[in-house]
Amino acid sequence: MDVRLCFVALLRILLFSSVFHGCVFSVLDCPPACTCSSTDIHCNKSDGGNFFPLLALQDSSNGSSGGGDIEDLFRNITTIHIENWTGLQILKDVDMELYTGLQRLTITNCNLRTIQARAFAQNPHLRYINLSKNPLTTLSWQLFKNLQLVELRLEGIVFSCGCEIRWIQLWQQRGEAGLHTQQLFCKTGANKIRLRAMNIAHCDLPDISVTHSNLTVMEGDNITVSCNGSGSPLPDVDWTVKGLHSINTHQSNVYWPNIHSINLTLVNVSRDDNGFVLTCISANVVGMTNMSLQLAVQFPPVIIKLEEPERRHHTCIEFTVRGFPHPTLQWFHKGREIQAPYIHTEMELYQDYLEGCLTFENPTHHDNGNYTLVATNSLGSVTKTVFGHFLEAPPFLEEDGIIEYGECFFANEHFQNHVSQQFKT
Ligand SMILES: *[C@@H]1O[C@H](CO)[C@@H](O)[C@H](O)[C@H]1NC(C)=O
Ligand SMILES: *[C@@H]1O[C@H](CO)[C@@H](O)[C@H](O)[C@H]1NC(C)=O
Ligand SMILES: *[C@@H]1O[C@H](CO)[C@@H](O)[C@H](O)[C@H]1NC(C)=O
Ligand SMILES: *[C@@H]1O[C@H](CO)[C@@H](O)[C@H](O)[C@H]1NC(C)=O
Ligand SMILES: *[C@@H]1O[C@H](CO)[C@@H](O)[C@H](O)[C@H]1NC(C)=O
Ligand SMILES: *[C@@H]1O[C@H](CO)[C@@H](O)[C@H](O)[C@H]1NC(C)=O
Ligand SMILES: *[C@@H]1O[C@H](CO)[C@@H](O)[C@H](O)[C@H]1NC(C)=O
Ligand SMILES: *[C@@H]1O[C@H](CO)[C@@H](O)[C@H](O)[C@H]1NC(C)=O
Ligand SMILES: *[C@@H]1O[C@H](CO)[C@@H](O)[C@H](O)[C@H]1NC(C)=O
Ligand SMILES: *[C@@H]1O[C@H](CO)[C@@H](O)[C@H](O)[C@H]1NC(C)=O
Ligand SMILES: *[C@@H]1O[C@H](CO)[C@@H](O)[C@H](O)[C@H]1NC(C)=O
Ligand SMILES: *[C@@H]1O[C@H](CO)[C@@H](O)[C@H](O)[C@H]1NC(C)=O
Repeated sequence: MDVRLCFVALLRILLFSSVFHGCVFSVLDCPPACTCSSTDIHCNKSDGGNFFPLLALQDSSNGSSGGGDIEDLFRNITTIHIENWTGLQILKDVDMELYTGLQRLTITNCNLRTIQARAFAQNPHLRYINLSKNPLTTLSWQLFKNLQLVELRLEGIVFSCGCEIRWIQLWQQRGEAGLHTQQLFCKTGANKIRLRAMNIAHCDLPDISVTHSNLTVMEGDNITVSCNGSGSPLPDVDWTVKGLHSINTHQSNVYWPNIHSINLTLVNVSRDDNGFVLTCISANVVGMTNMSLQLAVQFPPVIIKLEEPERRHHTCIEFTVRGFPHPTLQWFHKGREIQAPYIHTEMELYQDYLEGCLTFENPTHHDNGNYTLVATNSLGSVTKTVFGHFLEAPPFLEEDGIIEYGECFFANEHFQNHVSQQFKT
């Protein structure tokens, strides 16, 4: 481990311990040969250093109380400018990782030859990068894949002509990241040519094809979707399954010379994956293409919640029902279906959840009794009953009520039979 890695490791330890001990440190030193403000690090004194500038810690553990936390200090840096540092040859993954708020990076007229693959992985806000006049010979699009670059300046770099920099040519053609306004060059042998004029065979963006567009399945099914990435250079292919609930396996195969195929198998598909978007990504040195399909997972309705009436603005019997296709709901009271105006129209639909209220404007003892919710979709039907007690009935009406409750109970049993039949099939 070199000294610098050590230092970064130490810094990380301090960062974490500072979380525990509150803010022990409050001031960071500007690197030598640079001028710093709370948002900028500007290093324009020639040959300032061999390493990427890192703010250094200053011990102020004598009980200072002002100042934010160290992570904040790094995060607040939005601009780094380094010029004429001929010792700076490599930009490492660890160099940039603390500057998580960085937006503008200029490393110009230095001696930069290598940028490690994950150098910008922790800098999602980077918008502007100027690497002009460095002896870089190649550069990978993968460095920038998670960034929304507004401008990438590469003037004064003489690349090696080849497939590795074909993406820069494509970005120039598409007018991406301001590259079309720049005069860029590459070298084949002793010839220096315009990058626009470079002509490389067997070097294109991959194509992609997927066996399904959208896919509708039953909960518990097993399914296989297949994705081909094809082209030259032979691309890598992968399905993104982060966040998928169903158990899944991948199987890949190459059909020479130029198809890479990958099967994704989902076993016992879960209802929690209803609506999930599966994306297949195909990437090579020239770039990346992707294709997505959406899963629809069907399952019979369930009544997750049916609450006793609660007084709010109106009185509400709150319910949550889940099912896909979306179930239709019916309400029964005293053997009769309750019609529209009572059912709250502001029922919310969230993915495959239905949430809402059966509302009562001014309920009286006439409304007392069992309320039965029936939820139905193409896969089945389910019922649940809740007792609603609104007001005490005056004594002389009670008998009437009991008869009607009996009817309701009968109706209720009928629904339950109906349901168990549906589920048997
Ligand atoms: C950097 O070096 C170039 C010549 O290589 C010089 O023209 C320029 O003034 C220098 N910049 C600074 C800030 O020293
Ligand atoms: C170096 O940067 C500082 C701060 O931006 C600026 O004041 C100074 O003029 C610069 N020096 C040179 C030589 O460019
Ligand atoms: C604490 O450090 C500051 C400078 O960081 C200094 O001005 C101050 O005198 C120190 N206080 C004590 C009690 O040492
Ligand atoms: C970072 O910036 C925020 C907002 O701009 C500010 O409130 C905070 O004090 C800054 N933190 C440090 C350590 O400079
Ligand atoms: C990028 O850096 C180069 C070299 O210092 C400079 O000439 C150029 O103006 C910068 N580009 C932009 C767009 O600022
Ligand atoms: C993938 O390529 C293989 C071999 O050419 C072919 O049999 C299969 O149908 C392709 N699959 C898709 C999804 O295009
Ligand atoms: C797939 O489903 C999404 C969302 O339901 C829809 O926007 C898209 O048009 C569908 N695509 C195809 C090919 O049916
Ligand atoms: C799904 O695959 C699993 C494991 O391979 C198997 O046990 C199960 O029977 C399959 N289910 C269906 C519905 O085919
Ligand atoms: C992918 O699945 C298809 C049929 O579902 C099968 O023909 C093919 O061999 C499978 N490919 C791999 C790489 O397993
Ligand atoms: C399928 O998943 C359900 C839960 O989603 C689970 O209850 C069941 O046991 C699973 N079946 C198999 C065969 O793994
Ligand atoms: C798929 O490609 C589009 C367009 O290039 C891009 O915006 C999107 O982020 C890609 N999706 C994934 C999951 O990489
Ligand atoms: C309401 O339904 C429950 C069963 O869900 C039953 O035990 C009770 O007797 C019913 N009450 C009336 C008044 O019908």
